[in-house]
Parts: sequence; C-alpha cells; structure tokens
Amino acid sequence: MTTNNKLTTNWGAPVGDNQNSMTAGSRGPTLIQDVHMLEKLAHFNRERVPERVVHAKGAGAHGYFEVTNDLTKYTKADFLSEVGKRTPMFIRLSTVAGELGSADTVRDPRGFAVKFYTEEGNYDLVGNNTPIFFIRDAIKFPDFIHTQKRDPKTHLKNPTAVWDFWSLSPESLHQVTYLMGDRGIPATLRHMNGYGSHTFKWTNKDGEGVWVKYHFITDQGVKNMDVNLAAKLAGENPDYHTEDLFNAIENGEYPSWTLKVQIMPLEDANTYRFDPFDVTKVWSHKDYPLIEVGKMVLNRNPENYFAEVEQATFSPGTLVSGIDVSPDKMLQGRLFAYHDAHRYRVGANHQALPINRPKNEVNNYQRDGQMRFDSNGGGTVYYEPNSFGGPTEVPEQKQAAYQVSGIAESVAYDHNDHYTQAGDLYRLMSQEERARLVDNIVGAMKPVERDDIKLRQIQHFFKADPEYGTKVAEGLGLAVPQEVK
Ligand code: HEM
Repeated sequence: MTTNNKLTTNWGAPVGDNQNSMTAGSRGPTLIQDVHMLEKLAHFNRERVPERVVHAKGAGAHGYFEVTNDLTKYTKADFLSEVGKRTPMFIRLSTVAGELGSADTVRDPRGFAVKFYTEEGNYDLVGNNTPIFFIRDAIKFPDFIHTQKRDPKTHLKNPTAVWDFWSLSPESLHQVTYLMGDRGIPATLRHMNGYGSHTFKWTNKDGEGVWVKYHFITDQGVKNMDVNLAAKLAGENPDYHTEDLFNAIENGEYPSWTLKVQIMPLEDANTYRFDPFDVTKVWSHKDYPLIEVGKMVLNRNPENYFAEVEQATFSPGTLVSGIDVSPDKMLQGRLFAYHDAHRYRVGANHQALPINRPKNEVNNYQRDGQMRFDSNGGGTVYYEPNSFGGPTEVPEQKQAAYQVSGIAESVAYDHNDHYTQAGDLYRLMSQEERARLVDNIVGAMKPVERDDIKLRQIQHFFKADPEYGTKVAEGLGLAVPQEVK
C-alpha cells in the first residue's frame, strides 16, 4: 500500500532522478556510484523464477467454496462439516506441455488446481479437466513429459516421440481417446469440468473410511472449441482463455462449479472388477453415483499475477484431517514431486508467501532457510519435546490405521485391460464426434516418421473398438489390422 507518491529506493530513501543515470558530464561514461541504477538493473535480472516444468501457462482466480450437502458421515474434514459453511479458495487453471508464453487454445489436458484455505489448514486438490491420466505409475512421468516437450536436438515438438511412447504404453489409450476427442480443447476455462482424478480416502469422526473421487461439474455447461477456431486463436490471441476468465470475473459473471463425489466402501477395493486406484480408469457412475458436496464460485481476480499465480504452490500432499491419500502409484509419486519442485522453483520458504500460507495459525519447529521473511518463530521454543509450553501434537488428528501387506517388488497393477474403457468412451460418442476424434488423431499421427509406430498404435485403437482402429488406419492410408496381436 502506498501512502504517498514519493519514489524510493528498495531501502526507502527518496530517489532524486529515475530517468537519467549519473554520468561524467552529459556524454558520460556512467558512474558506478549510481547505486540506484545498479539496484534497478540487478533486480531486473532476477525478475523470473523458473517456470513450472509442467503446467507453466496458467490463469488464477480467488473465490469460495460453500457446502450444500451434509457428508459428515463420510468425512470429518472441518471445511465440509456444515451445510452453508464457506471456505475461501484460490484456483489455478493451466495447460500442461507449453511454456509460460504458449498459446491457450491447444489440444492438451488442463490443470485444475484448487487451494482451500480451511480453518484447519490448507487443502490442495491438484487435478486436471480429465478424470483419468496417461500413465499409472509415477516412475514413468519424466519420460512421458519428455515426449510432450521439445526435442533436445531440433527444439521442436516431436510427434514421433509422442506416439512412440503412447504406443509402447497402452495404459495411455483411455486418456489419449479423451484428449483427441472434443474435450481436448475447451471453449473456455469456465466451460470445463475438473476432476481430482486419483482416488483419495475420507475418514469420519468415528475413524471409518471410504474411498472417494472428486468431480467439479461446470455450472456453465461443458463447451468445447472447434479445431479451426482454436488454431486461429492460437495465432491471433494466444492468451484467449486467460483473458476470458479474467474478463468474466471482472464483469461480475462469476463462474461456478458443483463439486460431486463418488464414494466407494473400503472393502470394495479388494473385489472391484479392476483396480480402483489405477488412475487410467474411471469408476462406473452406476456402481458409485455422484453425490453433491457443494459449490465453488470464482469471484475475484488476482491483484498481481506474479505474487499470486506464479508463486502459488499446490501439492496433492497438502491435506487436512479427514482426507488422506490412497495407494494410487501416481499419487504416491506426486506426494514427493510437488513441494520438491516448489523448493527449487520458489524457495525453501514458499509456504510462507501470502498466497500459500494458511489463514489459520502455523505452529511448528521449522526455522530459518532462505528468504525467511516472517518473524521465524521469534524467541519461542525451537525444538520438541520441550518443557517450555511449545506446540504439541493433536493425537485425535492421527490418520486412522489401516492394513497394508504384499511382497516388495517392482511390479505393475494386476489388472491390465487398457482397452475396455477406451472402447466404451469411443462407443459413447456420436458418429460426428467419432469422425472428429479420428480426424484429430490422423492429423496428429501423420507426421510420425515410422510406420511401425503408427501400426502399433492402430492395433491399440483396434483392440478398443475395431471400427476405431479401422478408421484411423484408413485415414493414415495404412493396412487395417486383420487380427489383434
Ligand atoms: C504441476 C509433477 C501427475 C496435475 C506439476 C509440477 C510438477 C508435477 C513437478 C510443477 C509444480 C510447480 O512447479 O509448482 C507431476 C508428477 C506426476 C504428475 C511427478 C506423476 C507422478 C499429475 C496428474 C495430475 C497433475 C495425474 C492431475 C490429475 C498438475 C497440475 C499442476 C501440476 C494441475 C499445476 C499446479 C499449479 O497450477 O501450480 N506436476 N505431476 N499432475 N500437475 Fe503434476
């Protein structure tokens, strides 16, 4: 907040001249004693933090979440404890593969990262606009992302790498079908759903647990963008989605989403027809219908993009009492990846920045580190256990105990049907949607340099649905598979 109009140095002293550097005479050279100029130039050199390694381009907004349905029989999470309860939140919506300045209207999943500032600490739900993912084991993530990024030699996007990886990772088929379909390019960020994608665990006050999946259903309705318009906008207005969200909120057209959940009894996970923790699969809505939780409304734009959006740090491991993780092997890897990324990208004390810090009190024995800009615990006790009345643990907040067992080995999930749900998604589409899907795939696969890669991928489409595989093969002018290997 400025209270007067006086320009000052970083150290608060008034600046005498901000237009002319100090020189020896009007011609110069410039004098090194112009410390104000040196500070300006040096600070400018440090204006960028590294962009996110994925999800670099994004738009953010503030809002609130309001509970509309009592689900306390499933979770003791405080922010869900009462119908009508409102919790402030911040959202960041992003593309995945492109750089910070890349176009918004590309075919890509959209990140859907929500930070709830609950009275019992922050809760981050770091999902996408798709209910599934390309891979199901965190160990494959860096390889997968390499294929989505630029080729190290040409510095160009590399369709051969993309389809080579996907064709060798058939678990990607469901998400590839989703991405290549109409939903691969949303009309705006307001017209898409968000999903937690993974399975999480809710625990109630009696210590009873359930598995849960989150669905944010857009109240604006799902709308997608025609590929030709998307291509045109990518050139004419690469920030189209960012601008649309900002303007909608600025004009008082507050976008909202209805949060729904699917609830699965814990024991069903042992007998369900596939592994419910496998993030390449959706749970049938017939088996586990959607149950309403509440409404999320975005009603305030950030005041400062860097402070609030660029410095926002979300992690699927930022949880509150009543909400825990599941054994999902992607989610488990993500529990490491995010805050590790933040410590590198923003700094060791990223959690204390205004956009990230909880609205409730933070009390622990962590101290020091670069850029410790709060009081650093002052003179209070800095170790535990102690005899000086420092903060102590809250045993009733311990996660409910649960049984795990198994032989330690590097092994995939037991269930390896990558085709049924991808085929179901294809069969759900109208003839027109299928035609657009095939068109998009054929366009994307044409530049692939090797036919064996294309044929391997066609086999996967064929296994999902023979018509699907046949149409892609025909579109690419390649042999239709006669049988599936
Ligand atoms: C961002 C890693 C899977 C959604 C990121 C970032 C990393 C990362 C390092 C950048 C964080 C930052 O610098 O702030 C991983 C790894 C994954 C994985 C290792 C797999 C094991 C997923 C999945 C989803 C997802 C499955 C969605 C269901 C997001 C979102 C962001 C993000 C939304 C952007 C968050 C923001 O807006 O700041 N991921 N990711 N990621 N990831 Fe993942």
